[in-house]
Amino acid sequence: MGKFQVISHPLIQHKLSILRRSTTATKDFRELVDEIAMLMGYEVSRDLPLEDVEIETPVTTTVQKQLAGKKLAIVPILRAGIGMVDGLLSLVPAAKVGHIGMYRDEETLEPVEYLVKLPEDIDQRQIFLVDPMLATGGSAILAVDSLKKRGATNIRFVCLVAAPEGVEKLQAAHPDVDIYTASLDEKLNEHGYIVPGLGDAGDRLFGTK
Ligand code: PRP
Ligand code: URA
Repeated sequence: MGKFQVISHPLIQHKLSILRRSTTATKDFRELVDEIAMLMGYEVSRDLPLEDVEIETPVTTTVQKQLAGKKLAIVPILRAGIGMVDGLLSLVPAAKVGHIGMYRDEETLEPVEYLVKLPEDIDQRQIFLVDPMLATGGSAILAVDSLKKRGATNIRFVCLVAAPEGVEKLQAAHPDVDIYTASLDEKLNEHGYIVPGLGDAGDRLFGTK
C-alpha cells in the first residue's frame, strides 16, 4: 500500500483555516492555495533520491549531492489543480507541467475527462498529481488511470482537503499511489461535498460563483 500522509505543519493548518472561511475572497484564496502547495511541496519532495556529483568550488573539487534519476512532472487536475502548480514550481522550477481536464457531473458525481496534455516522456517522470479536493475519489482515480494508460508508474497525489471516502477509494483503486493531504476531513455530504471542507474549490479559486 502507498503512503498516506497528513502534512500538518502549523503554518499549513493556519493558512488552511483561513482558506476554509466562506468570507475569504478570491484573491486571498488563490494566494493561500499557492502558499500551502509550496509548503506541502517541501514535505512531498523530502525523500526524492539523490546522487553524487563532482563539482568545483572556488577552493577545491568536491563530491556533493544532486537530485537523481527520474525528473519531475507536475500534473494539475483542471480546473482547481492549477492553483497548486506555481507553489510547487517555485521549489522545482525545471519540472514539466502536464494537464488533465476533468469535471464532476453534478447529478451523478461521476468525473468526465475532457483534456489530457502531458510531457512526452511522462512514463519516465516522477509525477506530482495535484488537486485541492479529494472527495468521492472519482476524479483522482480517473486521472491516475489516464496517467497509467500513458505509461506513468511513479505517482504521488497531493491535495489540500481529503474525505475519508475518497482516500479509501483511491487507495483501493491505486494502492501504489502515495497520497499527501493537508487535512483529512470528517465526511462527504449528500451532494458529494467535503464536510467541513471549503466549498467548490474551482469556483472559489477563479471567482466563477
Ligand atoms: C472538483 C475538485 C476535484 C473534484 C473532486 O472539481 O477540484 O477535481 O471536484 O471530487 P471527486 O473526488 O468527487 O471526484 P470540479 O468537478 O468541481 O471541477 P472544477 O475544478 O473544474 O470546478
Ligand atoms: N469538489 C470541490 O470543489 N469541493 C468539494 O467539497 C467536493 C468536490
